[in-house]
Amino acid sequence: MAFPKDFMWGGAVSAGQYEGGWQEDGRGPCRMDYTTGGTRTKARYVTYELADGTPMKGGREDRLPQGARWASLPECYYPNQVAVDGYHRIFDDIELMAQMGFTCYRMSIGWSRLFPTGTERTPNREGVEYYRRVFECLRAHNIEPVVTLLHFDTPLGLEESCGGWENRELIDHFVRFCTTCFMEYKGLVRYWLTINEINNLLSLIDFMGDGSDTSYQHAYQQLHHQFVASAKAVQVGHAIDSANRIGCMIASAATYPHTCDPADILAADHKRQENAYYCGDVQVFGRYPTYARRLWGEHDVELAIADGDMDDLAAGTVDFYTFSYYNSNVVTTHKVTDTVGGNFQVGARNEYLTYSDWGWAMDPTGLQWQLETLYDRYQVPIMIVENGLGAFDEVVEEDGEKRIHDPYRIDYLREHVQAMERAIANGVDLVGYTPWGWIDLVSMGTGEMRKRYGFVYVDMDDEGRGTLDRYRKDSFWWYQRCITSNGKELG
Ligand code: BG6
Repeated sequence: MAFPKDFMWGGAVSAGQYEGGWQEDGRGPCRMDYTTGGTRTKARYVTYELADGTPMKGGREDRLPQGARWASLPECYYPNQVAVDGYHRIFDDIELMAQMGFTCYRMSIGWSRLFPTGTERTPNREGVEYYRRVFECLRAHNIEPVVTLLHFDTPLGLEESCGGWENRELIDHFVRFCTTCFMEYKGLVRYWLTINEINNLLSLIDFMGDGSDTSYQHAYQQLHHQFVASAKAVQVGHAIDSANRIGCMIASAATYPHTCDPADILAADHKRQENAYYCGDVQVFGRYPTYARRLWGEHDVELAIADGDMDDLAAGTVDFYTFSYYNSNVVTTHKVTDTVGGNFQVGARNEYLTYSDWGWAMDPTGLQWQLETLYDRYQVPIMIVENGLGAFDEVVEEDGEKRIHDPYRIDYLREHVQAMERAIANGVDLVGYTPWGWIDLVSMGTGEMRKRYGFVYVDMDDEGRGTLDRYRKDSFWWYQRCITSNGKELG
């Protein structure tokens, strides 16, 4: 029962939640920059001004009315604009990663740092050189970069000029961006993920959408374009450097039936097909699965598929499968009043599990189940690229030092690492683990800083007050022992 010798241990962040520096060195805006902070119960929203200057707030996914322009309003706080200042502090942060013993680091490239509006023909050199310095520094510390090409930050310019992913022009813009990355960072980066949690386009409809057929039509069409864009990127990436290993990234929750009522079993299975398998099947097998017809039919979806798309999907299958895992979810056809949330899910409460400060089910056995079923299905190497506990942390002063005692986070991670170990013992080819938010960062869902995931505490609150100084939590030293013992010392 041991992790393979070359197992990759690291941590993960995304550009939009970590970097800040939203207007520096030629970077263009993305939607996240104009999204306010929220809480578990208060939604985040986007802000803009109407043509006559009237300030407005809208839903996170809303399109702007004709003539309106994106705007930061003085009474609002926009946590992603500064985030945790990773743009300026990355080189110091790499020292912390190295101290923990990271052998890999999952990060994303901000598309709009390289292509400020997304439509430029040539990239912004300052953006290109910035990430080159980051990759060189990682390599100098023997840390393998694992790079996500799109992590929820499509340039706002592309929404404005083309209307977003529903327009197939986005495919070419994305492939141009990816081609630039593959060419510029050849030899520096070998592990790439095309699109983060690609399946969220569908999960979001359940989670916060209106459930209408129109929403499904939009989501499936956008997804089709993203599948083709991803498959083309895979082909280009392989052609530029045959050493490149390019993966998909799926938001993954173990999905259980609430009862043994056959209707619940089927509903849970269908939910799993829609939320997890649909995207993984296309990206790993290179074709739409049989049940896709049922899924489209349920919502009268008419997919526009252009000549050559199916060939691209078949030619651009991924080399490995990656997923995020935070919680499991319970599906039922029966009426339940006690519902709970999770990472882009909502379902019935599971009486066998405990829940995090943010109400997400903590379920390490679910991770083992995921690993075993996903590997059995796909038979390609697997990497867990997000996992972790978003929790409240308290800073205490001891012996003149700031300390953060976070046994709850250590317990969560230990149990998930043990689940990984069991899955490996059962034959799963798990090659790496990058817990989410190795350093505290802005929550994607709520925009909060106080929902902390990190091994490293960042002094920043939900109103933008704080020094941004970094402090090692107890979990920092725990993870260091875990890595240096290759997963043996988990006490
Ligand atoms: C995943 C995303 O959905 O979950 C991350 O890829 C996100 O960007 C993470 O931060 C945790 O979610 P949250 O809402 O707690 O930040």
